[in-house]
Amino acid sequence: MQDLLAEMHEHFELVEEIMAKALATSEPRVRSLLDDLGGFHGKMLRPALVILVARCLGDVEQLHYRLGAALEMVHTATLIHDDMIDEGEVRRGRPTPHVRYGNSTAVLLGDFFYTHAFNLVAEQGDAWVMQELTRTTNVVCEGELNQMCARRDLALSEDEYERIIYAKTAALCETACALGAVSGSGVQRSAAAAYGRLCGMAFQIVDDCLDLSGDPQKVGKTLATDIERGRLTLPFLRLLAASEGAERERLGEQLLSVSSPDDVAAVRQLVIEGGGVRSALDSARSYVAQAQQHLAAFPAGAGRDQLHQLADFIVARDF
Ligand code: IPE
Ligand code: IPE
Ligand code: MG
Ligand code: MG
Repeated sequence: MQDLLAEMHEHFELVEEIMAKALATSEPRVRSLLDDLGGFHGKMLRPALVILVARCLGDVEQLHYRLGAALEMVHTATLIHDDMIDEGEVRRGRPTPHVRYGNSTAVLLGDFFYTHAFNLVAEQGDAWVMQELTRTTNVVCEGELNQMCARRDLALSEDEYERIIYAKTAALCETACALGAVSGSGVQRSAAAAYGRLCGMAFQIVDDCLDLSGDPQKVGKTLATDIERGRLTLPFLRLLAASEGAERERLGEQLLSVSSPDDVAAVRQLVIEGGGVRSALDSARSYVAQAQQHLAAFPAGAGRDQLHQLADFIVARDF
């Protein structure tokens, strides 16, 4: 995986160049804010998906880099707003924008990323691609909103949880892969979309596990926010499903009444030791295996092997 990421480096540089140009401004104060934010880069998963799918089916073109940049900008916008909502203080190894510049600036900065992502794709002049981006962003925002409304609901079903994580995370990965496959056949586009969707589901489940059992230094962001916000992620749902009656009620109460770091630590321990994280990771592995099956629609070769590897990385990662 390290080899794959090192090899992607040149591609990521091109994506970053496009993002920097798209966000360029002649307003000195805004420019200095963006310069200060500079280097706010994550794993670049969404651009990687666009580029690897495109490469597997032919040549990587300027369009793919632009799409990768636009998707990464939408993703970054969601993170800036999400950290404010979750009160996450660290992201990508640094203090989050709302901590550094205050909430008002962080709201506007997130908006700035959204609108510039849309403009970048609109300039391309392809109405279908533009609509794919805006439709997916609708889904992401609805997912975040739905998750907010579902907070502290101990009756949340796994089916509802899956709908939330599809919307907030997997839909963007699905679109990244579908857009990477624009030049492929209809069958290949559908296979790419399915691969992206299933990888995205696994990615969010692993994120939900890392929130409980990850090392904050390695993950580079504030963890345990799901517990603090009363968010019932898959590890909790699995623990609840494994208990009954009074015990289940007690677990639910404990989860919803956390108020100190010790309470948070106790809930973490309970979910990990009760097998919730293990069971959720089994599901993530199963999503990845299903994703990899869709790769059969792509030509065999190094490109397809890399997509296979990327899917494995999604569940093996600890950052
Ligand atoms: C974090 O996404 C939010 C989720 C969808 C889980 P990433 O883990 O891809 O964040 P960065 O871009 O690498 O920081
Ligand atoms: C956020 O999910 C996904 C978005 C679409 C923003 P999380 O709240 O789990 O993401 P992290 O853990 O803060 O990165
Ligand atoms: Mg969050
Ligand atoms: Mg999370």
